[in-house]
Amino acid sequence: MGEALLRGIISSGLMSSDDILASDADWKKLNDLGNELGITAVESNCELVRRASVVLFALKPNVIKAVLSEVSSHLSPPKWCISIAAGVSTATIESVLQAETPVVRVMPNTPAMVSEGMAAICPGQHANAEHTWKTQQICQAVGKAIIVQEKLMDAVTALSGSGPAFVFLIVESLTDAGVKLGLSHADAATMAAQTVLGAGRMVVDTEEHPAVLKNKVTSPGGTTAAGLYQLERSGVRAAIIDAVVAAAARAKELSSE
Ligand SMILES: NC(=O)c1ccc[n+]([C@@H]2O[C@H](COP(=O)([O-])OP(=O)(O)OC[C@H]3O[C@@H](n4cnc5c(N)ncnc54)[C@H](OP(=O)(O)O)[C@@H]3O)[C@@H](O)[C@H]2O)c1
Repeated sequence: MGEALLRGIISSGLMSSDDILASDADWKKLNDLGNELGITAVESNCELVRRASVVLFALKPNVIKAVLSEVSSHLSPPKWCISIAAGVSTATIESVLQAETPVVRVMPNTPAMVSEGMAAICPGQHANAEHTWKTQQICQAVGKAIIVQEKLMDAVTALSGSGPAFVFLIVESLTDAGVKLGLSHADAATMAAQTVLGAGRMVVDTEEHPAVLKNKVTSPGGTTAAGLYQLERSGVRAAIIDAVVAAAARAKELSSE
């Protein structure tokens, strides 16, 4: 995820690679990335934080606390930081850092890797509008970004964080259906993915309610009506809502562990 953000920041021209430092537990991986992107690979997390003005922590939730403790003596205002660790609150991060260090929390998603990410941002108690705006600029380098209240982060995790996996399952099911009806796997997979991409693009570009778009392809007594009836009969709408609600409940559980 950190790599996807870096690539977006550089390719969008938001920052020059000359101004970016990176550190990682895996020195070889870091060096290869440094050479490819033209960023400076730094050997230790502390050295990076000493030299940086803004620090992006792109670490797994079970690692971030240890790294925050490791670097906290070098991280105080006017330096500030962004965390993308799922389920780790701004209050938790602030409690490890020096007093009043601004923290902005982000929940990105994997389509950031293809510049179609959806990120939600919430500022911690010491982050101001400029910190939030700069974070939004970074996230918008790889897609869209909205600002939400922190209490909604579990909902964000469930909808846009886990959402790509739900959509992948739908793409896989459409592909299976095409194969069952005699299409080659390759053709069915292309059709399924492009149909989901195209439908999503129509919702975004037309800004029409999905129900309006659905009605436009549903002729009376036609094929789409027959298929939609089966989907409703099998409770697909409630199943999708239940899936997102279950993911949010799990996100809440994980963040309190
Ligand atoms: N992937 C997603 O869909 C997604 C979506 C939203 C949010 N997030 C959040 O984004 C964060 C990163 O996720 P990810 O999937 O990108 O994880 P990841 O691929 O494991 O990236 C974490 C990176 O941190 C490095 N690292 C580990 N320990 C370190 C240390 N002590 N010092 C410096 N670097 C260290 C890892 O190196 P090694 O590989 O060598 O251990 C790895 O390169 C997570 O908190 C996750 O919850 C992920």
